[in-house]
Amino acid sequence: MENIILTGYMGSGKTTVGRNVAKMTHYTFVDTDEMIVEQQHRSISEIFAEEGEQAFRDMETALLRQLVAEKKEHLVISTGGGMPLRKENRQLLSQLGTVVYLKACPETIYNRIKGDTTRPLLQCEDPMGRIGEMIAVREPLYKEGAVFTVDVDELIQSEAAAEILKISPAMNASNKDLLRRSTAK
Ligand code: S3P
Repeated sequence: MENIILTGYMGSGKTTVGRNVAKMTHYTFVDTDEMIVEQQHRSISEIFAEEGEQAFRDMETALLRQLVAEKKEHLVISTGGGMPLRKENRQLLSQLGTVVYLKACPETIYNRIKGDTTRPLLQCEDPMGRIGEMIAVREPLYKEGAVFTVDVDELIQSEAAAEILKISPAMNASNKDLLRRSTAK
């Protein structure tokens, strides 16, 4: 299916970069966390506090099944950082379109998310340590689930978006032409 899916750890820039990619391609931007919040009428923190992480993971899988069943196309989909953890989710994401992993190192992530209170998994004594541990576990899964990796540490958001458009086979010639024009300005 013709969609672009962005995966990666919290704070890797999926939402900002995704919005840029959507603007450049005239695709519609959606964010799986936002969709779950809308469906559930409560925040991610509330879902975690009231029902726990596994219930949230089930909601993520249900949402991907729904997007595949609805055969949605021309979307840029920013996913929650834990989305590729389940094998079924990785398969569903691949069915949905071109999966791109936004790779950022723990230091970059920490600098972007420090002070943020909306991410329940990082509300702990040592967020930097937790980030390092989680990335070590998740990295192989992010890589396994994606067809491309974009290293975002050294890139500003608009450059990361341009990289994604260059490598995405979902882009046809007219979109590539559009990109050339928008980056030439
Ligand atoms: C999570 C990432 C969050 C959100 C939830 C769990 C994770 O999304 O889905 O807090 O397990 O990495 P973002 O990556 O958009 O912050």
